[in-house]
Amino acid sequence: MGSLSFLLLFVGIFVSAPAAQAVNVDVVTKYITTEVTTLEQDESFQLIGYLCGQMKDNGINVTVVLNNNPYWIAVVGVVKFYVVDAANKTAKDALCTNVDKQGVPHAGCFVPSWPSTGDLFVKGQNGPVDAVSFSLDAELVPKTDKKNWKQSPESDQLEYSVSYPEGGIYKSDPAVTTIYLTEVILLSAAQKLPRLSEAYLKFTFCPTPVTGTRYTVTSTVFGSDGESSWVQYICDKSPCEPSDTTNMVAHDGRQLPSNTVNTPSGRWTTLYATVVCWGGPFDPATKAFVGHFNFNAIIGS
Ligand SMILES: *[C@@H]1O[C@H](CO)[C@@H](O)[C@H](O)[C@H]1NC(C)=O
Ligand SMILES: *[C@@H]1O[C@H](CO)[C@@H](O)[C@H](O)[C@H]1NC(C)=O
Repeated sequence: MGSLSFLLLFVGIFVSAPAAQAVNVDVVTKYITTEVTTLEQDESFQLIGYLCGQMKDNGINVTVVLNNNPYWIAVVGVVKFYVVDAANKTAKDALCTNVDKQGVPHAGCFVPSWPSTGDLFVKGQNGPVDAVSFSLDAELVPKTDKKNWKQSPESDQLEYSVSYPEGGIYKSDPAVTTIYLTEVILLSAAQKLPRLSEAYLKFTFCPTPVTGTRYTVTSTVFGSDGESSWVQYICDKSPCEPSDTTNMVAHDGRQLPSNTVNTPSGRWTTLYATVVCWGGPFDPATKAFVGHFNFNAIIGS
């Protein structure tokens, strides 16, 4: 091989190599129960999600699953609840309720625009049936998603049902059982990322009485295609660059199909994750190796 053709081959390899990309990836923030709650007859409850002020103007979509009553049949036992943004607010301040104008409770309750920097309080009561079990999922719906709100028949039915019937909640207010919701971060769908490209994620955690003021965050990136490997870096400031440890609080540089990092115990608020793809299935269209990842981060004590 002549030196010229060798040079051309060398240049050709560089030119055809895909340029490393960097993408910002939106995360989904949820506040969930991590235990099944089982209520006695007429038992009142409240669930509290600490939002660090990040909910203002965003939507919040609360869904309750009755584990033994998926169709919400009243005689089997259903719960009524409403959502407020302060501990001392009551049903008359409800931002939404799962009780429709006919007095019938449903699974969902949607607040289109959170009015304050206050926290999430879901207050409610079980009906006259013993041992009603539920789990709850409250998802932050970014205000930029507003155009999508009308697309779901269920949200058409429930999203503006802020009015509730007189005496819609079974009894008076004082909550008996208090449950602290756990914040989790995830993606709404797997994200594709070419080999050696970086994805940037940003999320905010809050302390709760369960975690205490110092807590850890466990974050996991994993391939959804079964053929990719991943590295991740967690920082408490941006930028979060693999080559610069200034802002870094935790990382796992091993290139693994599933890569988990635990932060040290600290008072974390906004964290930044940088995910790097180290290979995935070959994509003939772009002539590159492209991985697909999913992600979750959860607060620990
Ligand atoms: C709730 O408490 C706040 C202070 O914590 C107070 O300013 C507000 O007036 C109270 N609201 C009601 C409805 O009692
Ligand atoms: C709220 O959650 C329910 C159940 O997952 C879903 O069907 C509905 O589309 C969501 N609404 C919004 C506005 O995100």
